[in-house]
Amino acid sequence: MNQINFNRDKTIEKLAKLREMQVCDVPKDSLIKTQQQIDGIIESGKINTGVLDYVASKIKAGITTADIDDWVKDYTESHGAICAPYQYGGFPKHVCTSIDDVVCHGIPSKKAVLTEGMIINVDVSTIYKGYYSDASRMFIIGNTTDEKKRLVDVCKQCLNVGLSQVKPYGRLGDIGYAIESLAISKGYKVVRDYCGHGVGNAFHEDPMVMHYGKKNTGCLLVPGMVFTIEPMLNMKKSGVKVSAVDGWTAYTKDKLPSAQWEHTVLVTEDGYEILTY
Ligand code: MF3
Ligand code: CO
Repeated sequence: MNQINFNRDKTIEKLAKLREMQVCDVPKDSLIKTQQQIDGIIESGKINTGVLDYVASKIKAGITTADIDDWVKDYTESHGAICAPYQYGGFPKHVCTSIDDVVCHGIPSKKAVLTEGMIINVDVSTIYKGYYSDASRMFIIGNTTDEKKRLVDVCKQCLNVGLSQVKPYGRLGDIGYAIESLAISKGYKVVRDYCGHGVGNAFHEDPMVMHYGKKNTGCLLVPGMVFTIEPMLNMKKSGVKVSAVDGWTAYTKDKLPSAQWEHTVLVTEDGYEILTY
């Protein structure tokens, strides 16, 4: 097993000193994972990746998002894990499936049939032996428009540029700054109503990971922290409206398509490691 966090005690001492200096926001000690916790999150992440690979192997035109829900539940449970979304804050299904103008938190349904040209985000979150992991991918059903292809591609680039900013003693604002700068340069808008989050010992922990921000601001990034980066990109307007019918499904206000990609990432002594590959 990779010994990523062997220096936790030293790190904690260092953080106490940095807190005294009061020059920036320093994460709580509890956000610096122990080696045991990291090992658990790595195992959880492997199952989470397996779920997404399984979905990738089966997703196609003609299936429903309820089918995806069944696949996610079956794969997860047959690997001794639990689907984190189920009954989380009352969420009724095991995975979020967000088609076209749904930004996030789409609820799987037998009525939602995938057809050629749709773009869909499948957002999978796994609990294994108490440890949480969280990742999502976009899938394009058959052939789609160049517009949608480009949105999906640039959104993935935004996740990657955000990841490239993750380094020990960097700052959270650098991640958001890099993501939003790229999005804007390509003519898109970052959704502001949702953010990434600390993850591992619980589904949603501190810090909140904004997908916009200023360089050299925000929480310090410290080896042993684990969080998600999960940018959502809209084509023209960043505005989002949550369905009054189900209380979950978030649509773009302008009804144009939206895309999202997500990974769970660990800050290491010399950079980062994606735990959901
Ligand atoms: N995977 C989503 C996230 O990134 C979870 C949404 S909460 C749910 O936080 F209840 F809808 F699953
Ligand atoms: Co998440």
